[in-house]
Amino acid sequence: MMRSLHRDSTIRAGFVALAVVYVLVALLTALRASGAASGTQVKVTAGKPTEYRFIVTPSTGLAVGAVRFVVTNAGKQPHQFKVCGVAVTAATLKTCVGKATRLLKPGQTATLLTSFPKAGKYEYLSTPVDAAKGMKGLLVAKVAVVSTPITTASVTRPSTTPVGTTPTVPAVTTTSGSASGSAGQIVWTNVGCGSCHSLTSLKGNVNSSLNSTHPEPFPGGALSQKQIADVAAYINGS
Ligand code: HEC
Repeated sequence: MMRSLHRDSTIRAGFVALAVVYVLVALLTALRASGAASGTQVKVTAGKPTEYRFIVTPSTGLAVGAVRFVVTNAGKQPHQFKVCGVAVTAATLKTCVGKATRLLKPGQTATLLTSFPKAGKYEYLSTPVDAAKGMKGLLVAKVAVVSTPITTASVTRPSTTPVGTTPTVPAVTTTSGSASGSAGQIVWTNVGCGSCHSLTSLKGNVNSSLNSTHPEPFPGGALSQKQIADVAAYINGS
């Protein structure tokens, strides 16, 4: 377990040096993450290997966030490529709300920019008629592993965090909390949960014993039950 790392509070003395290490790790992680995120490019061939199929590479292990599909219709019929916006468990839809290319004539190519809001499986399909013939499938998006920044941050980060904009953490302001979530959003921001965690990684994981189960004390001390409930609502509603 990583827990043993958290006990070593003597390391705080060497904070400055370690902070530099942290920044480097964060930057490297950012580079890797952005390489995966902004660079996530998926090649889609419609009409292959048979008329009412797609070849999609890669279709799994896609990073949450922006993704660019370069779609070519190699078939003899017009096809489109649409990515449904809501995560599903199986490719059973024939139509959905999402982002689609225009209907591509044979030989045409189009680029589709969209993003996966969170980890999960997302269906892709062509028109309802095509989809009914089996022209659909699943894309699998996953959250980037955040264990490196978490462990490093936990031993190097002071309570007033200078490195508050770790790229692996979604900006709080872009996630509009619901009415019940906004108190939780304040807790999230004040305690700086986002400097060590991504919102989605904690979904469903916060419960009332957070103070005692959390591997290290929170910067501002233990949270009240109300703060825990609020932050849980904010996380779960994200
Ligand atoms: C200084 C870094 C840091 C901060 C700030 C922080 N955590 Fe954590 N948290 C950790 C580490 C490290 C772990 C252990 C991770 C592991 O087990 O991989 C952890 C584990 C957890 C877990 C259990 C593990 C899981 O993923 O289910 C929860 C829940 C959690 N934190 C919630 C929070 C909440 C809510 C906040 C803000 C109120 C917060 N944390 C603030 C570092 C932090």
